[in-house]
Amino acid sequence: MGHSAPVWDCRAATEITQDWNGIDQVVLRNPKGASARISLHGGQVCSWRNEQGEELLFTSSKAIFKAPKAMRGGISICFPQFGSCGSLEQHGFVKNKIWTIDDNPPPMCSDDIEGGSFVDLLYRSSEEDLKFWPYSFELRLRASLLPDGDLVLRSRIRNVNGKPFGFSFAYHTHLVVSDISEVRIEGLETVDFLDNLCQKERFTEQGDAITFESEVDRVYVSTPNVIAVLDHERKRTYVIRKEGLPDVVVWNPWEKKSKAMVDFGDEEYKQMLCVNGAALERPITLRPGEEWTGKLQLTVVPSSFSFDL
Ligand code: BG6
Repeated sequence: MGHSAPVWDCRAATEITQDWNGIDQVVLRNPKGASARISLHGGQVCSWRNEQGEELLFTSSKAIFKAPKAMRGGISICFPQFGSCGSLEQHGFVKNKIWTIDDNPPPMCSDDIEGGSFVDLLYRSSEEDLKFWPYSFELRLRASLLPDGDLVLRSRIRNVNGKPFGFSFAYHTHLVVSDISEVRIEGLETVDFLDNLCQKERFTEQGDAITFESEVDRVYVSTPNVIAVLDHERKRTYVIRKEGLPDVVVWNPWEKKSKAMVDFGDEEYKQMLCVNGAALERPITLRPGEEWTGKLQLTVVPSSFSFDL
């Protein structure tokens, strides 16, 4: 994808390349060969690969790489809203903006520093943004690739506004799966969900793992902090750990909706599942000077591996 000469930044062990639009992307690598690529366009994670070089995040073959819209795939940062409401863009506007590298982020508490290679990105609300969302904020994202290949995203949102504001947030995460009908999610059993396909009506999930045989678009509320996506065919499990993100959106467009999306292949719903750590049901409120943190950690393990849910 990149076409410029790589420049190594020894301090953070990162490489900077550029996408087709000339927008910088930061490549993180670990010593075993895993990698992650994060774009300054929206702070979007465009790629996360394991030690074998296999891509773990889905990007549509029909994705449109044209600013200002974020491309369909990877992990996009949805703020100050997820979904659509009022005049704001669907899933918020920061995913469609150009962020900067934050060379001097405010310190994090030492328990919050994961190690590995990382990059700090920053988006500050602009005069233009204030016209349709009149609250000044700073959104910082630290994206880290740990020595074992885990991907960690830590977002910090600070109110630099004179009055409080409320928001919702999501990491819109497109996972690659081998075949959606062979996938199940564990950890959401008996949890309540709002069904976007039934006017957000509230239901309670059954006691079994979630499987897929038709379109799904749900917001699971007040979920456990660890859930797992098991890809039976590939014998691979994604473990999703989250903090500050009580809710989880599960989305697969299935056949009909796939065909209706211009930037999504007709059959691609079979190879993709969105499982988004989010704070949606109860919006977060920040008073002036306050900061909120939402952390997502993604791990991939062989399905035989046992972990505590
Ligand atoms: C999902 C939402 O996560 O994202 C769906 O729950 C939505 O309702 C989907 O259709 C895709 O949204 P977009 O804006 O990327 O087409």
